[in-house]
Amino acid sequence: MEKHLIVGREAELGELSRLVASPDGRAVLVRGEAGVGKSLLLAVAAEQAGALGHRVIRATGVESETMLPFAGLHQMLHPLLHTMPGLEPSTRAVR
Ligand SMILES: Nc1ncnc2c1ncn2[C@@H]1O[C@H](COP(=O)(O)OP(=O)(O)OP(=O)(O)O)[C@@H](O)[C@H]1O
Ligand SMILES: [Mg+2]
Repeated sequence: MEKHLIVGREAELGELSRLVASPDGRAVLVRGEAGVGKSLLLAVAAEQAGALGHRVIRATGVESETMLPFAGLHQMLHPLLHTMPGLEPSTRAVR
């Protein structure tokens, strides 16, 4: 994407572009050494997905939250609450 100056990574960017444009559900694991550019690749993929009209929901695992149950699930679902107007108030209030 133009706003990021990315050196190399053509193969990874191509793979993520295909993932984003894929009509079926797919998953990809991006892993590598610290600072190797994982977050940058994911930022580009998220921008591409947004440009294609997809809703992008991001969750980030942090060590300090490992003791919080469902912290990741909460990050994923909280932005979707407004799409569920029929949710029982008691269910909606669960945090
Ligand atoms: N291919 C690349 N071209 C240009 N800059 C890059 C490239 N890969 C990484 N960078 C830059 O290097 C820095 C570290 O990248 P990034 O934060 O994406 O790494 P990371 O793998 O997510 O690190 P961490 O494991 O610490 O989360 C950022 O400033 C990023 O913009
Ligand atoms: Mg990172």
